[in-house]
Amino acid sequence: MGPLAGRRPRVILALETSCDDTCAAVLEGATVRASVISSQGIHDRYGGVVPEVASRHHLELVNAVVDDALRRADATLDDVGLVAVTRGPGLVGALLVGLQSAKALAAARRLPLAPVDHLHGHVAATFLEPDPFEPPFLCLVASGGHTLLADVRDPGGFEVVGQTLDDAAGEAFDKGARLLGLPYPGGPALERLAAGGNPGAFEFPVARGLPGLDFSFSGLKTALLYRLRDLGETAAREHRADLAAGYQHAIVEALALRVERALETTGHERLAVGGGVAANGALRRRLAGLAPAVAIPAPALCTDNAAMIGAAARHVPALAWPEYLSLDAYATGERGL
Ligand code: KG4
Ligand code: ZN
Repeated sequence: MGPLAGRRPRVILALETSCDDTCAAVLEGATVRASVISSQGIHDRYGGVVPEVASRHHLELVNAVVDDALRRADATLDDVGLVAVTRGPGLVGALLVGLQSAKALAAARRLPLAPVDHLHGHVAATFLEPDPFEPPFLCLVASGGHTLLADVRDPGGFEVVGQTLDDAAGEAFDKGARLLGLPYPGGPALERLAAGGNPGAFEFPVARGLPGLDFSFSGLKTALLYRLRDLGETAAREHRADLAAGYQHAIVEALALRVERALETTGHERLAVGGGVAANGALRRRLAGLAPAVAIPAPALCTDNAAMIGAAARHVPALAWPEYLSLDAYATGERGL
């Protein structure tokens, strides 16, 4: 822990580049003054994120995104007291662009730097104004790379009580969308298609038989594949919306089932939800009634963004200059997530 831990600078400049979104945000305390997200609309042609392409685009975009965030916040680097950045987990090449940029920005002004875990960021999105939701609570984090249940007792960290054994929920959305001929990223496209379908027309597995708090989504994707084959091209095309609705329903039910179990096991009466899949309307509606208090941030704070990294940074030890210069990114976390 650096000598600055405990001192909480009010204005934070945060960077996030763990996947294909180049993000910067300026926070004043728990208030987001600006959050800029530049999505690299280039990976759709490959049907997924190409790591090397993502890194190169981060490199091209990062300075402009930081400048834009400062300008929108009506701030300059002189106002910034702390630089925060995602250290992992994610694509190492992509993470390194954000990490090195953050180091350079901080070092030039001898500012402290707070390295943040991306998953802690998804949990911390709920700490932000206008409706800060504070621990203790149970948090479902469902994104493209991770799906886990976190027992959050204090804002500085969390304990994983359940996680996916195979695909993440967002991956299930993306793979299902691909089978249905939808573009990447599949989650939002599948949600739009499902809106016109009947979720009861086709039944998909929810892995009810899997005991405990872990998730499994690989059987679901296979079930859709077989269902499409059985129907044949014409019928499958005719029933696309119903198939999407049934598939989405199964993901939502699988998540809700484990959340219910985890609330029981942990005794939490407060539930928070984060990660890109928390932008899904059907999931938001399903989880809203599961606990006496439920917090689901606005969709733009659920999908990857830097404001959530700034929110987490307020609760982790900051490193003083020049301690952080040797920091490395990590692809998977200490928990193996
Ligand atoms: O948290 P996130 O932005 O990036 C990761 O950390 O992975 O999550 C991205 C994932 C993708 O799989 C995307 O398809 C999914 O979140 N997603 C959605 C929706 N919006 C994004 N899934 C379902 N419905 C949505 N509206
Ligand atoms: Zn994420």
